[in-house]
Amino acid sequence: MATTETGAAVAPGRLFIGGEWVDAASGKTFDTVNPATGEVLTHVAEGDAEDVDRAVRAARAAFDEGKWSGMDARKRGKILYAIADRLEARADELARLETLDNGKPVREARMFDVEGAIECFRYYAGWADKIDGDVIPVPGPYLNYTRREPIGVCGQIIPWNYPLQMAAWKVAPALACGNTVVLKPAEQTPLTALELARCCAEAGLPAGVLNVVTGFGETAGAALVKHPDVDKIAFTGSTAVGKIIQREAAGTLKRVSLELGGKSPNIVLADADVEAAVRGATSAIFYNTGQACTAGSRLLVEEGVRDELVEKLVKRAGSMRPGNPLDPKCRMGPLVSQEQLDRVMGYIESGRSEGAELVYGGDRPEGDGKGFFLNPTIFDRVKPEMTIAREEIFGPVLAVTTFKDLDEAIEIGNRSEYGLAAAVWTRDVAKAHRAAAALRAGTVWINMYHTLDTASPFGGYKQSGYGRELGKHALDLYTQVKSVWVNLA
Ligand code: NAI
Ligand code: MG
Repeated sequence: MATTETGAAVAPGRLFIGGEWVDAASGKTFDTVNPATGEVLTHVAEGDAEDVDRAVRAARAAFDEGKWSGMDARKRGKILYAIADRLEARADELARLETLDNGKPVREARMFDVEGAIECFRYYAGWADKIDGDVIPVPGPYLNYTRREPIGVCGQIIPWNYPLQMAAWKVAPALACGNTVVLKPAEQTPLTALELARCCAEAGLPAGVLNVVTGFGETAGAALVKHPDVDKIAFTGSTAVGKIIQREAAGTLKRVSLELGGKSPNIVLADADVEAAVRGATSAIFYNTGQACTAGSRLLVEEGVRDELVEKLVKRAGSMRPGNPLDPKCRMGPLVSQEQLDRVMGYIESGRSEGAELVYGGDRPEGDGKGFFLNPTIFDRVKPEMTIAREEIFGPVLAVTTFKDLDEAIEIGNRSEYGLAAAVWTRDVAKAHRAAAALRAGTVWINMYHTLDTASPFGGYKQSGYGRELGKHALDLYTQVKSVWVNLA
């Protein structure tokens, strides 16, 4: 067990199956690392196919017994509210744990990740008793009505960039709709998902309704996708793995929803409030060290404002020194892992060799060399066909490209296999709405960036995935409709 900088120890993690904390059947464990120091934080049970099977059986039994789906919807809502209260009572501790495991600044972990998770449970708690059906005016002496029923056992596979928040986005709506869950957190960041399970148990969630199996994607994740008793898979992560999941789920025709990568265009027109656009473009790409599926990684700038914008961006990037994420003043932490650092450095190399102009960063900050830190990085004169303008980098690397007019901006913006998010900065209301309609992305921001809310739908166009999480739209992901006919004759 490791001791952290503040002297506290992080306990090893076990699997949470059927309401019990258990070791992996194989007895194996794996280490989870503090990205700010590169040191082992603690170890966690390495679940594989056998553990997934145990967890699915627990979830299946809980579902089939109807102790959750058959519970009064209002009581289900009360338990979800109680989970939010438990998370809130432990908010500071959870934020710190998220920072230790993921490397993100503790202030952001508290304000966004933990707060977002609390809100998500409260929001779906409110939905639990409002999921109703319709009465359809059919011809004939019949009563026809619909019931919105839970799907059953949901396998949920989440990434490492917002560990607790992604868990909440998946678990809260699934539970509100009466499903049971097997959650597989990312191997880089398993700790807060286990604490969520603890909060759920303390809040009175019946055993087996939420199960958490920590482990690797190719073993635990793949087993969940293939398991015949899992009715639905919800996945957030890379587009490459999303494709594997869709293929593998075909064997049992599971319902699938996918929230995948992005290469989001952030468009600045010449008439924009440049100061606001600079602030927005900075957080668009550097927030969470660029490890955000909605990262504004392509900055498209109208020619007339390019010089001013790039100069101001470089200045602002210079003030974002990566540092100790446990420091409440820290605004930029390390990348999540050595693997991610290597991958991002590879993209920086490709930007250089393909002829983009490196105007800031591209290197690691000075220091003791520990941790996976990287300076904010800006490439100017990037051509849309360059690798750094096409592929998701998932790091603090901005690619700046210029355009002549709005039509060209939209054309370049849409020139991507992804379609998760986009933004446009302008004072011209007609141009703003034209762009919003023309950009092929699941979220479009006008004169802002990165804002999300539990009440508003989120998801992708094109190869950024399908299905909408959050808001009332997530209820569609976790219910199925039954049509009931009654003969009144
Ligand atoms: P990944 O897509 O491999 O991992 C995400 C989750 O999927 C993890 O829980 C992992 O264990 C699981 N997984 C991996 N392979 C699986 C399989 N065959 N079957 C079932 N589950 C599986 O992402 P990774 O390797 O951590 O990161 C690679 C790149 O993916 C990043 O550089 C980034 O570009 C992108 N990414 C995008 C995310 C997004 O939210 N859009 C989140 C994480 C990564
Ligand atoms: Mg992977």
